Amino acid sequence: MEQQYENVVVMDHPLIRHKIGYIRRTSTGTRDFRDTISEIAMLICYEATRHLELKEIEIETPICKTRAYELKGRKLCIVPILRAGLGMVDGMLALIPAAKVGHIGLYRDPETLEPVEYYCKIPPDSDQREIFVVDPMLATGGSVSAAITMLKERGCKNIHLLCIIAAPEGIRRMHEAHPDVDIYIGEVDEKLNDHGYIVPGLGDAGDRIFGTK
Ligand code: PRP
Ligand code: URA
Repeated sequence: MEQQYENVVVMDHPLIRHKIGYIRRTSTGTRDFRDTISEIAMLICYEATRHLELKEIEIETPICKTRAYELKGRKLCIVPILRAGLGMVDGMLALIPAAKVGHIGLYRDPETLEPVEYYCKIPPDSDQREIFVVDPMLATGGSVSAAITMLKERGCKNIHLLCIIAAPEGIRRMHEAHPDVDIYIGEVDEKLNDHGYIVPGLGDAGDRIFGTK
């Protein structure tokens, strides 16, 4: 179904698929889970930054002067959705170390499955930055949609979403709420279960990253 949306990019890469297969397993422990989430984030970041503009500059190699390239605008900002989004920050920063980092705190009410906000702190010039929202799980899409609404209320315009596993329901909700936001997804799963968990998914991403269950 993701093919219906031109601004949804599903990673089709053997390394990403291999690593997602690893974190799905119940037998993968906290430390390996956390490390692998970070590696996957780095790989998705590589694709999600493909559009960044370059400028030509002159440099000197040990051999001669030559033309080279550097990023034109360096105003990037990573916004993890707490808690599980934190697991993707280091992998993103490994590729874009100059980025600022904002935080949005949301948890999903277990009964209604609707997001409850508890924190928002983003750089003051976020309205001029290119924003990369990160959350490993796009389930109903409620959390990410609410986070992006919070960012737009603060003037942010240029927003991308990176997630590792998505349900078709979450992609649909995101597209309805924020059709201007492009989405980079590791893999799209089959469906949500009655408790709003992604099937087959990987369970509760926050608990698995932080070892809280
Ligand atoms: C998880 C996940 C997303 C959300 C996805 O967070 O990290 O933020 O659920 O579900 P949704 O698409 O249906 O909103 P959770 O609410 O478990 O909080 P946590 O990261 O603090 O554990
Ligand atoms: N949040 C998670 O961490 N996992 C899911 O499958 C759904 C929401």
